Amino acid sequence: MARPPSSGSDPESSAPDGLVSLEGITKSFREGEQERTVLDNLNAEIQPGEFVVLMGRSGAGKSTLLNLISGIDLPTSGRVVIGGTDLTRLSETDRTLFRRENIGFIFQSFNLISTLTVAENITLPLELSGRGDEEARALEVLDRVGLADRGDSFPDLLSGGEQQRVALARALSADPLLILADEPTGNLDYETGQQVMDVLTELVRDYGKTILIATHDRTLIDEADRCLTLHGGKLEAGVPDFVEG
Ligand SMILES: Nc1ncnc2c1ncn2[C@@H]1O[C@H](COP(=O)(O)OP(=O)(O)OP(=O)(O)O)[C@@H](O)[C@H]1O
Ligand SMILES: [Mg+2]
Repeated sequence: MARPPSSGSDPESSAPDGLVSLEGITKSFREGEQERTVLDNLNAEIQPGEFVVLMGRSGAGKSTLLNLISGIDLPTSGRVVIGGTDLTRLSETDRTLFRRENIGFIFQSFNLISTLTVAENITLPLELSGRGDEEARALEVLDRVGLADRGDSFPDLLSGGEQQRVALARALSADPLLILADEPTGNLDYETGQQVMDVLTELVRDYGKTILIATHDRTLIDEADRCLTLHGGKLEAGVPDFVEG
């Protein structure tokens, strides 16, 4: 299912049902003498094609969890299994390769490379994966986010909403198994944020993608299949009562 890197995958690892399987995840950070546990023996499964919203107060550990699922960071203990591959058993290099092939990450701060054009921001990661159809693919996804005519522009010349639509296009371009988004509208005004969310939800549904999105945007709950809330280091089903509409 997942496209594992050529080395480091474990044929003997049990293949779980979910696309994402979090098994007994604990994440602690050491601050001086103190150790603080942010995620505490957390378990969850996400099925292929699910649209899942991740909520929780600031500091609850949403970004920490997304970084573990993407393999950017490792848990203190527990297993992160994506499409049958246990990321915690891969080397750092293989985790990077796995992420490039299988995960599209959308950040709050867009994370576009300012010295590359809009089109190059999309083709560069595709070239690293050696797909061969980079330019056609970039044009296709830029068209889908309404920016077909901006490929030669530099990101700094685009509005915040346009930059985030480029980031959406980039995240979808490699046809990833899983999309992770960390407060993708957090840097945008309300109306622009809604436009970006509309494009994102439409594309995720059209392409049949699985997405886990951390957001404070309550309007997204209606779009989602499921809402999970981080509280006290655990994931709870449902919408937190403190979210404002
Ligand atoms: N690298 C790190 N070193 C030490 N502590 C960290 C590190 N990364 C995160 N933390 C701590 O983990 C806790 C959870 O942080 P995290 O960024 O995951 O929260 P969040 O739910 O994403 O919050 P927000 O809604 O504000 O983005 C915080 O208390 C934070 O200080
Ligand atoms: Mg965060």
